[in-house]
Amino acid sequence: MSKKLIIGNWKMNGSISLLHDFSEILDKENFIIALPYPLIPFAKSINPNVKIAAQDCSIFRGKGAYTGEISADMLKEFGAEYVIVGHSERREFFNESGSIINKKVKNALLAELKIIYCVSENFENQIKNDLEGVDTNIIMAYEPISAIGTGITPSTDDVFAVTTRIKNLWDTKILYGGSVNSSNISDFLGIENVNGVLVGGASLKLDEVKSMLWD
Ligand code: PGA
Repeated sequence: MSKKLIIGNWKMNGSISLLHDFSEILDKENFIIALPYPLIPFAKSINPNVKIAAQDCSIFRGKGAYTGEISADMLKEFGAEYVIVGHSERREFFNESGSIINKKVKNALLAELKIIYCVSENFENQIKNDLEGVDTNIIMAYEPISAIGTGITPSTDDVFAVTTRIKNLWDTKILYGGSVNSSNISDFLGIENVNGVLVGGASLKLDEVKSMLWD
């Protein structure tokens, strides 16, 4: 497999023992793992070369009286290099609007985190609202809602067509996400516009991730 990025998103899953099982692959060059917050420093202690993404960050900066929140600055200090912002699950279950996502993107940039910014079929509106006043390069992840966790993937022609339209709006690296696994990953990584994949469910299975990294 080429050196396109493979980002595993564990969402609200995983455990200390699962992370231990993954220790041998944590420092693979093109692998980034998006962990639940408490596992971030833990993963660093298992393997200091691991590349970690946080799955979200606060709309507030630095430190302060915001019970339950974790800022982008803290995530940077704890060992994250990337942060996912605007995932469709955040938009759906936590009502994240454009102005919330915009604040998170700006905070993450100030904290010098690299951003993995997710859009869905509605990417035109999302980009317009979420990225107002942002002029830095960010990694985009195109994740059609119909493909997340469903096992139903769009055709490679569809992904090529949509990612071409996204690139016309925002010329940057684009990932594809939605039901990627070791059997279909090469189809998506074979698309010219696609610089990597964001993998949810399959990223919790060590054998799946190994074959995605070594194929
Ligand atoms: P999935 O999730 O691979 O389980 O479809 C992808 C994602 O939501 O990032």
